[in-house]
Amino acid sequence: MPELTGICDTNEKSRPWFVDNFPSITVKTADYHELIASDRIDAVYCAVPHNLHERFYCDIINAGKHLLGEKPFGIDRAANGKPFTLVMETKRMAPGCTNTWFIEVYGTGGSVRFTTHDPKAFYTLETRGKEQGWLRIDIGSQSFIPSVTGGIFEFGFSDALQQMMAAFLQEFRDGGSKHPFVNVLPEETAMSHAVHTAALESHATGTKVAVNYGASRTLMG
Ligand SMILES: NC(=O)c1ccc[n+]([C@@H]2O[C@H](COP(=O)([O-])OP(=O)(O)OC[C@H]3O[C@@H](n4cnc5c(N)ncnc54)[C@H](O)[C@@H]3O)[C@@H](O)[C@H]2O)c1
Repeated sequence: MPELTGICDTNEKSRPWFVDNFPSITVKTADYHELIASDRIDAVYCAVPHNLHERFYCDIINAGKHLLGEKPFGIDRAANGKPFTLVMETKRMAPGCTNTWFIEVYGTGGSVRFTTHDPKAFYTLETRGKEQGWLRIDIGSQSFIPSVTGGIFEFGFSDALQQMMAAFLQEFRDGGSKHPFVNVLPEETAMSHAVHTAALESHATGTKVAVNYGASRTLMG
C-alpha cells in the first residue's frame, strides 16, 4: 500500500491538516528541495501553480523520484521540451458547459455517446426500420478501480482524483496500468504542444501551417 510520508507547501496553514491526519508523514517542509532529498519518498504528487511546473517537475525527476504532475506540462512548447514524464492537458470550448468531456461515435448501423454532463448515463442510437431514436441507459456509478465510494453514490471530482492516483500507482507498481484512461505519455504532451504552436502561428499569419511533430512522432512510433 502506498503511504503518505511527506508534505511540502509554502503556505504555513496548509501543512498542519496533512500532518494531523496522516501519522505516516515524517517530512514536513516549506522547501521542496528538502522533500525531494528525502529517501522516505519514492513518488511526488506535485500540484504547485502553473508557472512553477517546469522547474519543480524537472527537479523532482532529476532527484530520481516518480512524478505525478498536473496540467499544463510545460507552460509552452519550449518548457514542454524538458524531460517530463506525465501530463494530462485539455483545451476545450463548449457553450453552456463547464468542464464537460464527451465521447461520441456515429455509425450507419448505430451510434453511442457519453458525456460527463450526465455521467450516470450511456446513450445508444437504436434504428427501427426508418426511425431512429436515442436510448438512455442508466448505468449507475462504478469506478474502474474500486475505491471507497460505493456503487450507489454519485461519481464526483474526488473520485476522479482517486482514479487518477490509482492509475498512476498501478503504473508505478506494475510497470503498466490496466485503467481505460491510463496516464498520458510525455510524447503525447509534446504532440499537443506541436498542434497548439502551429495553431498560434496559423492565427498570427492567417495561413495554413503544417504541424511539425518533430521528435514526438518518432517517439510515439
Ligand atoms: N486552478 C485551476 O483552474 C487549474 C487548472 C488546471 C490545472 N491546475 C493545476 O492543478 C494544481 C493545483 O492548482 P491550484 O489552483 O489548487 O493551485 P494553487 O495556486 O492554489 O497552489 C497550490 C498549492 O501550491 C502551494 N505553493 C505555491 N508555491 C509553492 C512553492 N514554491 N513550494 C511549495 N508549495 C507551493 C500553494 O501554497 C498551494 O497550497 C496546479 O498544479 C495547477 O497547475 C489548476
